[in-house]
Amino acid sequence: MKFDSLCVHGAKKDADGLGSVAVPIYQTATFSRSAVGQGSGYDYSRLQNPTREQLELRIAALDGGSDAMAFSSGMAAAQLLLELFSPGDHIVISDDLYGGTHRLFGAVSKKNGLEFSEIGAAEELTAALRPNTKAVIVETPTNPMMKIFDIAAIASVTKPRGILLVVDNTFLTPYFQRPLELGADVVLYSGTKYLAGHNDTLAGFLVTGTQELSDKLRYLFKTVGSCLAPFDSFLVLRGLKTLHLRLARQDESAKKAAAFLGTHPSVAKVLYPGVGGMISFYVKNEETARRTLERLKLILFAESLGGTESLITYPMTQTHADVAPEARAKLGINAELLRLSVGVEDADDIIADLDAALSLR
Ligand SMILES: Cc1ncc(COP(=O)(O)O)c(C=O)c1O
Repeated sequence: MKFDSLCVHGAKKDADGLGSVAVPIYQTATFSRSAVGQGSGYDYSRLQNPTREQLELRIAALDGGSDAMAFSSGMAAAQLLLELFSPGDHIVISDDLYGGTHRLFGAVSKKNGLEFSEIGAAEELTAALRPNTKAVIVETPTNPMMKIFDIAAIASVTKPRGILLVVDNTFLTPYFQRPLELGADVVLYSGTKYLAGHNDTLAGFLVTGTQELSDKLRYLFKTVGSCLAPFDSFLVLRGLKTLHLRLARQDESAKKAAAFLGTHPSVAKVLYPGVGGMISFYVKNEETARRTLERLKLILFAESLGGTESLITYPMTQTHADVAPEARAKLGINAELLRLSVGVEDADDIIADLDAALSLR
């Protein structure tokens, strides 16, 4: 089945045997048995629930993975991943990460004895490796600076050394980028963004390429219990049915918006990776940034990204507020930087809104 059909139908398993076209919401915590050793195959919803299972099968199919696990948020997925490691293990991370991931690594995991070092580009990886390096975790494109890390180049370093490669694919989704095919071992998602796609639920995913890794993670997953609830699983399944349509439109509109921003006199620089619906841009001063955020009408000033509604974020005070000022300054996250998530509205309306807000009229 091709990607677009997989978005709509998934791995196609009639979950209830009733021919339900939409996957039903199995709002139950537990499943009864008729006798010892008898049962439906489901025991308790933390272990597995039929609605979540269908979602996990669909995400695994879209990413070409052997398995996928659905979490209550992207951060819950990232946190579980770190349970694979022990005190003294070293992990190389990309320097420009979502602020919450940065906080998880820097403030929470460090105290558990994990060591981290940052790289700014794939070429810096070999020099960053230590004898105790167990994993490399990168976002690409990065949030919010839109840097690209070459996944295949990184995999050529990690694979022969048995180092786990994890890619946060939140910005591009499997519609534009399939990290497992490029050599990654695990794909991490904030499913809150494009996968769910409607700014109405939180979700997170880990997708694995091998059964061995999936078994390890599933053991931790059922133990920790940060799983996605049945209703939220239903919402993400519904969102996925239009993933390909939304992303095609968001990519098309973002290209138009990025071209427009590049010509606007109030804009100093546009960071657009050439694909997808995310654009970061610098305006010429802080006052312009603040005024723009206040004057936009269609585009909503809110954290998050990847949904049907266009959202604009001020990374310095929102997503990256907890990143140390020196680290922010080094990356270029300053008072002039704005991050735009292009929604599925008409591109002309998005551009007109930007124009009206940015222009001194
Ligand atoms: C790239 C990226 N990864 C992970 C996360 C965390 O996901 P969540 O907000 O669903 O916990 C985010 C959230 O903004 C993100 O942008």
